[in-house]
Amino acid sequence: MGTSSGTFRFIDLFAGLGGFHVALDELGGQGVFAAEWEPTLNALYRDNFAIRPWSDINDLGSDEDVAREVPDHEVLTAGFPCQPFSKAGDQMGFADTAQGNLFFAVHQILRVKRPRRFILENVPNILNHDGGRTKRTIIAMLQELGYEVDIEHFSPHEFGIPQVRDRAYFVGSLDGLDGFEWPTKHKDPTDITSVLRHDVPSSRPIPPSTLNAIDMWGDFLKRSPADLKMPSFPIWSMEFGATYPYEDETPAGVWTRRSKHGLSGMHVGGSFGFKLDGLTIPDQQALIPSHARRESDFQFPNWKRGFIRQNRKFYEDNVDWIEPWLREWRPWEFHSSFQKLEWNAQGEERDIDNFVLQMRASGVRVKRPTTAPSLIAFTQTQVPILGANLTGQRRYMTPAECAELQSLGGIQLPASELAAYKALGNAVNARVVKAIANSLLDGLCDSPASPHTDHELLGAIA
Ligand SMILES: C[S@@+](CC[C@H](N)C(=O)[O-])C[C@H]1O[C@@H](n2cnc3c(N)ncnc32)[C@H](O)[C@@H]1O
Repeated sequence: MGTSSGTFRFIDLFAGLGGFHVALDELGGQGVFAAEWEPTLNALYRDNFAIRPWSDINDLGSDEDVAREVPDHEVLTAGFPCQPFSKAGDQMGFADTAQGNLFFAVHQILRVKRPRRFILENVPNILNHDGGRTKRTIIAMLQELGYEVDIEHFSPHEFGIPQVRDRAYFVGSLDGLDGFEWPTKHKDPTDITSVLRHDVPSSRPIPPSTLNAIDMWGDFLKRSPADLKMPSFPIWSMEFGATYPYEDETPAGVWTRRSKHGLSGMHVGGSFGFKLDGLTIPDQQALIPSHARRESDFQFPNWKRGFIRQNRKFYEDNVDWIEPWLREWRPWEFHSSFQKLEWNAQGEERDIDNFVLQMRASGVRVKRPTTAPSLIAFTQTQVPILGANLTGQRRYMTPAECAELQSLGGIQLPASELAAYKALGNAVNARVVKAIANSLLDGLCDSPASPHTDHELLGAIA
C-alpha cells in the first residue's frame, strides 16, 4: 500500500493496524506521521505503509517538540484508547491518568499543528460517560480551538459489512461543517458468508470441551418441541430443578443468618436441584450457581430475580423433555459458562450448525449468520465459531476473515493469531472511516489554507 503521492496529508494517532490509514490512503491521502507504542504493531505499520511510527505519544513533549516532530498535515485521525470509557472497563475516563488523558495529547497536536479536519473514533459509551460531561468537555475543548464539531455513531453492518460494532465518530473542521453530511446508514441485511474465505487454512482447532458444549446445546434445541417459543431470556440450566431462596432472601443471607447449618435442613436444592441437606457450608457454596453465591449478595437485583424465576418456570413447564436431556448430557460437569445459552435466533430452525456461535462468560451465544459479533480485543476464546452448515465444518473465523469484517483485507496482519485477533478487535473499520471522510474532506478544497488545488483534491476523492 503506497502513500507517497497523496493530495492531502494525514496523521494516524494510536495507529494500531492502520484502519484510518487504509481509508484515507484509498481517498488519495498521504500518511506523513503515525504513533503506535506496541512494538509489533509499530513494526507492522512500517511494513504495511512505509512509515515508521512514533512510539509513546506521551513522549512527544512540549509544544515546541510537537511543532518539530509532527509534520504539517491537513487531516488528523485518532482512535484514542477506549478502555477508560468502555462499559467493559472501570470507566475512570479522564481520571485514568495512564490512558484516559490521551485525548489531551490529541488536543495538543490539534492546537499546535491546526490541521483543517479531524476524525476521532471511540466507543459509543464515551457519549454517556460521567453523565455526558466527558463528551461536553471534549466538544468544548475542540470548539475552543476553532473547530466546528459533530458526532454520530455507526456500525459496519450499516455499510453492508456483516459485523455489528457501534462506534462514536467525532468530526471537526476549522472551516465549519455546513457542507458536511454523515453517510447514509443502510438497512439492507448482511450475510456473514460474504466474508468467509475457503482459500485460507482453518485456524487453531476448537477445544473438545467447547465442541462438546455445542453438541449439548444443539441437542437441547433439537429436543425442544417445534411449537414451543424458545426463551428470549438467557437459559441458565443450573436453575433447572434448583429451589434455593432468591426472592426474599439469598443463599448469602441464609449463610449469615444460620451460620452453623446454612441451607442444610431447609430442604432446598442447589444447582440442578442437588440436595444441600447434611452438607457443610463450603460444600453448599459449591452447589449454588456462581451467579447466586457471592458473599455480599443479600438481595439480588430485579433482573437476576427475573432470570432465575423465568428459568425455573421454563424447566417446570418443559420437564418432560429437559429431564432426559439433563440425564444424557450432565451439564453440571461442564464449565459454568457452558451451562448457559443465549438464543438470539428466535423463529429460526433449531439446528445449531446453521448459526454463528460465541463462547462468552455469559453463556454460549447463538446468533443468526447475518452478522458476526463485534470483534473484541480481550480473549481468543471469544472469536466467533461458524456452524458446520456455514462452512462444511465447525471452525473459528480466521484472522483473514476477521480482517474482512474490519475492511482491512488488503494489509498484512501480525504473524501470531492471538496478536492478529487482538489488533483486529481494537481496529477501526476502514470502510466506515472512508464513508465519513469522503464528505468531510470534500470541503477541504474550498479551504484557504489547503495547499492543494480543487482539481487535485476532487480527483483524489472522486
Ligand atoms: C483503539 S486502538 C486504535 C486502533 C487503530 N485505529 C486501528 O485501526 O487499528 C488504540 C491503539 O493505541 C495504542 N496506544 C495506546 N496508548 C498509546 C500511547 N501512549 N502512545 C502510542 N500508542 C498508544 C494501542 O497500542 C492501540 O493499538
